[in-house]
Amino acid sequence: MVTSSEHNNERFRRKLDHLRLYREGWGAQSNAFDEVYLVHQALPEFDLKDVDLSVRWLGKTLAAPFIINAMTGGTPASLEINRILARAAARTGVAMAVGSQHIALEAPKCRETFSIVRRENPGGVILANVSAAASLDEAFRAVEMIDADGLQLHLNVVQELLMPEGDRDFSHYRQRIREVASGLSVPVIVKEVGNGLSREAAVALYGCGVRRLDIGGGGGTNFAAIESRRAGRDKSLYSCWGLPTAISLIEVATSGLPLEITATGGIESPLEAAKALALGASLVGVAGYFLKVCLEEGEEGLVAEIERWKEDLRNFCLMCGARNIQELKDGPVIVTGRAREWLEARGIDPAPLARR
Ligand SMILES: Cc1cc2nc3c(=O)[nH]c(=O)nc-3n(C[C@H](O)[C@H](O)[C@H](O)COP(=O)(O)O)c2cc1C
Repeated sequence: MVTSSEHNNERFRRKLDHLRLYREGWGAQSNAFDEVYLVHQALPEFDLKDVDLSVRWLGKTLAAPFIINAMTGGTPASLEINRILARAAARTGVAMAVGSQHIALEAPKCRETFSIVRRENPGGVILANVSAAASLDEAFRAVEMIDADGLQLHLNVVQELLMPEGDRDFSHYRQRIREVASGLSVPVIVKEVGNGLSREAAVALYGCGVRRLDIGGGGGTNFAAIESRRAGRDKSLYSCWGLPTAISLIEVATSGLPLEITATGGIESPLEAAKALALGASLVGVAGYFLKVCLEEGEEGLVAEIERWKEDLRNFCLMCGARNIQELKDGPVIVTGRAREWLEARGIDPAPLARR
């Protein structure tokens, strides 16, 4: 029988491996944003300095619609990484999520590697993170640990199947999500971690009482490739599995359901962020790319990079004739190529997006 401390040791090793291998398989799949176009407007009628990137989210104001998405916590190295990420989020006014907190729910000595984030960013938007299989009590304790503004519940079926120690039984997930969504006092966001949410999944989650999703599409960090590598198996078999980010986003955003969407998955540039917002995302999540900047350039480098993203997003808004994020969302977006073929095959007409 596997004891709780052996289980936590395995978690600890896995978290270290994820930090080491996070760019493994990056690029194996496209995020499909290269098939999405915004329409240039040559005669904007306003001053660049009047473009407002700020958004209200979870009762607070963000300077720009970005979230440094869930990555780490639990190991000594992750304490420093979380400190840098939290300080950068505080200085740039963007949101941040911590990595999965199960390790600290089982071993309280790891709590500091997560709670550092709230200490470094007392007024910011910070999200807790546990598995979608978590109980209401675990969800409650994760939120309390960092005084979180919301809770992410992650869905990672592919990763679980590829881990020898991973879950095989997913039959209780929907019930657990329902309990947490209805029982918790802060908003719940269900997130995929790189394989995307289909429209069917969005409808099912809506039925569980969830109103906020992070589509976590394919084209960026690829846990299938990471876990295959950890297990010494062929990484190509599963690494193209899933919905590319732009396609997942359109599937969910055009579902007609009143869902608030975060778009994550291989978003590596402010142009891709602008496209995601125009397609209907309220927030853009970036994990692997910001981790790379953090590890290579530290806090100052990450702050400078996020400030650059803001500046470029402001330019893209102006070039689309949008004074704010809502106007960017209301403008035309053209979907071409294989992304368009996918949507048409699924009975989703992308034409209305182009005629807005
Ligand atoms: C090193 C690393 C660790 C991660 N750990 C978690 C986690 O604990 N919980 C979670 O919900 N997502 C986790 N993710 C997934 C990210 O939040 C995100 O959904 C995914 O990486 C896709 O975004 P990206 O392509 O910008 O990296 C992790 C990502 C990375 C790179």
